[in-house]
Amino acid sequence: MKKLIAPSILSADFTKLGEEVEAIKQAGADWIHVDVMDGHFVHNLTLGIPIVEALARTNPPPLDIHLQIDKPESFSEKFIDAAGDSILGITLQYETCALLHGSISRIKARGVKAGVAISPMTPIYVLEEVLDYVDMVLIMTVEPGFPGQKFITSMTEKVSRLREIIDGMDNTPLIQVDGGIKMDNIKLIADAGADSIVSGSGIFGTSDYAETISNMRAEIES
Ligand code: DX5
Ligand code: ZN
Repeated sequence: MKKLIAPSILSADFTKLGEEVEAIKQAGADWIHVDVMDGHFVHNLTLGIPIVEALARTNPPPLDIHLQIDKPESFSEKFIDAAGDSILGITLQYETCALLHGSISRIKARGVKAGVAISPMTPIYVLEEVLDYVDMVLIMTVEPGFPGQKFITSMTEKVSRLREIIDGMDNTPLIQVDGGIKMDNIKLIADAGADSIVSGSGIFGTSDYAETISNMRAEIES
């Protein structure tokens, strides 16, 4: 299956967000990863509903919304509405979402992919009951909160373990990996079994997005 590259818009130049979306779309991004943070779960406050509404007006690649917020279930449908036809999926953070079954069901009932993310120190086994329900599992390879952090190398083995578990299952959620991924480690993560790869500063921090994404694709397909 083709590996999907999802640039995180949080690392884009917000003074020209519409142009950045168009540039990343022309550069071949499969999805746009949208990092929503509320200053409670993580010590950062990023973007919300109005920005997602604006993104949706730019005819973007599908929006992959990562809710790093308290009580994400209370906002998931508001973000689905804000994204409109551009919505791909909503990813809830395991650590802040107590009522996962209902929260996942409500996202799926809207015909939207439901994902669950786990932070680096959260073990895979907490997802045991979730794996049969979700469309995607997001393995965080940095502590949630900020772009530009260093990739936590021990997470590669965690991705491989999850790959092995999912390959033995009937329901096969996608594995997404997010945090500190750049040209020098993207192959490691792809080979470990990631299906979707998020990169923020690793793409928006370069001068030629198309060249970067093309080089990343060459790296992961090699
Ligand atoms: C961290 C976010 C990541 C981050 C990715 O809380 O979920 O998506 O913005 O940015 P880089 O690729 O620069 O680590
Ligand atoms: Zn993210």
